[in-house]
Amino acid sequence: MGGEPDVSPLDPHSPASEHIATLWWWMLVVAGVVFLGAVAMLVLGWLRRDKPGLPLLGESERANTTLVVAFGMAIPIVVLAALFVVSDLVLMQETDAPTASETAMSVTVVGHQWWWEVRYEGGEVATANEIHIPDRTHIALVARSADVIHSFWVPELNRKVDMIPGQANTIELYADEAGVYRGQCAEFCGLQHAHMAFRVYAEPPARFREWLANQERPGREPSTPQARRGQRLFMESACASCHTIAGTEARGSIGPDLTHVASRQTLAADTIENTPRNLFRWIRNPQSIKPGDKMPGLGLGAARFHAIAAYLAGLK
Ligand code: CUA
Repeated sequence: MGGEPDVSPLDPHSPASEHIATLWWWMLVVAGVVFLGAVAMLVLGWLRRDKPGLPLLGESERANTTLVVAFGMAIPIVVLAALFVVSDLVLMQETDAPTASETAMSVTVVGHQWWWEVRYEGGEVATANEIHIPDRTHIALVARSADVIHSFWVPELNRKVDMIPGQANTIELYADEAGVYRGQCAEFCGLQHAHMAFRVYAEPPARFREWLANQERPGREPSTPQARRGQRLFMESACASCHTIAGTEARGSIGPDLTHVASRQTLAADTIENTPRNLFRWIRNPQSIKPGDKMPGLGLGAARFHAIAAYLAGLK
């Protein structure tokens, strides 16, 4: 599960993204033919620049008009209309919202400036920025937004789906093999839009259930004096009013649920690796890593941040 996750739309890992990749290749072929045709016309015009009239068609005004109407209007209309219809069919039918009977479970993802809230149906499981799914299983992904318009996009698994305030849009999430697939917000949503990424972990079903069972547990109790101090500081400071840690009095809903933050591979929406050093840097001065982010720097001093980081690093 280590290393950089895959991200190419031309390396599809689901039936829907296969249709999209096929469509892309066909569009490239059609656009290539049109481009070569235009280049051939240019070359022909240049070769015959001193000879009036057209090969085969001669010098008549009618021949010239025919040429302009055919290449300037008729062919573009036919080609563009055909591509429009075909791409609409692929995007709207082949990758249509799945019905409940077609999927095994549903996962709700809520876009926030600038992170992803992830909730699993029928349970209290909430996580952020990392979506675990069983591989070779049809999942209904429900896309919502808490603030502005975002767009959820995992290039190797399906098309983009907009996250619109007050509306739920559903697409299917399916991965044909276990792996890590990178996703990215695909709609400009403010200063840190580019740092609004996430990962999809497709795992064998048994491993997925293990992960889900761990996520259902409340946050682990701190095991060292430093981590216990960190827990106390977390509950007493502004941290607890923005974040939830199940099993504690921290019940905030503005920022990501941190109940199992240490089980995640990345921090700040796939912006930095989740290492002890990065965790400390992130909570101490989030604005230096994501300028404009809603998470403020609290100015508590290094020793207190080390204690809070020690507590968070134990939340596996
Ligand atoms: Cu969220 Cu761009």
